[in-house]
Amino acid sequence: MENTLEVLVVDDDEVDRMLLIRSLKAAGLNIHLTEVTNFDEVIVTLAETKFDCIFIDDCLPGKDGLTLIKEIRGLNITSPLIVLTGQGDEQIAVDIMKAGAYDYIPKSKITPDRLGLVTRNAIKFYQANTEATLANQRLQESYDLLVKQNHQLEAQQRQIQLQNWQLKKASQLKSQFLSMMSHELKTPLNAIIGFSQMLLRPSKGILNQQQSKMVETILRNGKQLLTMLNEILDLSEIEAGNAKLKPDFFDLTQVINNVVEEIYPQAIAKNINLFTDIHLKNSKVFNDSRRLRQVLIHLLSNAIKFTDSGGKVWVEVSAIQPDIHSEIKLDREMNKLIISVHDTGIGIALEDLEYIFEPFRQIDQTITKKYPGTGVGLAITDSIIKMMSGKITVSSEIGQCTTFQIEIPRNIPLTVDC
Ligand SMILES: Nc1ncnc2c1ncn2[C@@H]1O[C@H](COP(=O)(O)OP(=O)(O)O)[C@@H](O)[C@H]1O
Ligand SMILES: [Mg+2]
Repeated sequence: MENTLEVLVVDDDEVDRMLLIRSLKAAGLNIHLTEVTNFDEVIVTLAETKFDCIFIDDCLPGKDGLTLIKEIRGLNITSPLIVLTGQGDEQIAVDIMKAGAYDYIPKSKITPDRLGLVTRNAIKFYQANTEATLANQRLQESYDLLVKQNHQLEAQQRQIQLQNWQLKKASQLKSQFLSMMSHELKTPLNAIIGFSQMLLRPSKGILNQQQSKMVETILRNGKQLLTMLNEILDLSEIEAGNAKLKPDFFDLTQVINNVVEEIYPQAIAKNINLFTDIHLKNSKVFNDSRRLRQVLIHLLSNAIKFTDSGGKVWVEVSAIQPDIHSEIKLDREMNKLIISVHDTGIGIALEDLEYIFEPFRQIDQTITKKYPGTGVGLAITDSIIKMMSGKITVSSEIGQCTTFQIEIPRNIPLTVDC
């Protein structure tokens, strides 16, 4: 059963109207009918009701069909219009269709079959048209929304670019400031260290025991301050992009042993067992030995600093793949070295692990903190390892142990900028 169709019949001739209505019903259409006999009534009725189909006599008193159709379409009414023409009015009918009518039927040729066919087609066409218009509208709305979102995204992107630029600028300024301050501080500090060393020379013999102890404290603190300044200066250089790796061929085992030897007094002073565990058949590498030493010193100093008396600190070294003298030819990428610095110290809580590589981040940041330091050692280490195309990871158990593991290629490219 078809839905009830709202049909409007506009005709001043009652006989013609009756004929049309009878034929519509005979065609089996389920309709609700509104009849109108003059132009003014048409406009009022159209304002009140939405029709599925409108039949118009092309010759109403005081208005021809063409004018009426133009006015209806001018009101943005899109319902299908079928014009009922008199005998021999075909030419007029063509003009009428151009003005926006769907079809025309000469009154003399109205039969239920023809009327049913034309009406059903007109309604289908109208529904399809309405759906297409709706879909088009939705498409246009989506498009407008996309354009709007695109504009917003572009604006956000510009904002982010601006903020990035400002951040970069601020970071450069910070690096310049740190670099300038460190240089300025180093000059007087070098004088303090130099003169303290001179005063302590046994040949001078100008200080009594108590004074010597005081000057030793000045010297120790001066050196500590100098180390801190150098770390800050180093970080500002790396952050400003001024640091470069200077690779050379060297023996990794030898470098590690030298570093361990250098740091040994610190371990002895804290009664810590410091040793190495090196598993390398070939310990020749091509890397920046000075920077690698720096990394090892940072990690070992930390390990000793954060381990209590009686604990253990050790360096373990291995190669991921067989050494370069192996018969198998290896992709250079695969030929990597693993250096791990283990300690049995205070450990690092899981939630702090992600922060410790950030500059100036220390777990204990209270004024009365137990362990001295600037908090830049790991940031420098991380940057250096990245420059070497390597990576550093940390695993720890609070109160038990910590391991910093470095993975670096055995051979780095000849020139590396950071
Ligand atoms: N081996 C370690 N054991 C426990 N905590 C560590 C260890 N190494 C680093 N940390 C933590 O990471 C922080 C950052 O280390 P670092 O950048 O070297 O700064 P600093 O040594 O100057 O404090 C340290 O303050 C400490 O809280
Ligand atoms: Mg440190």
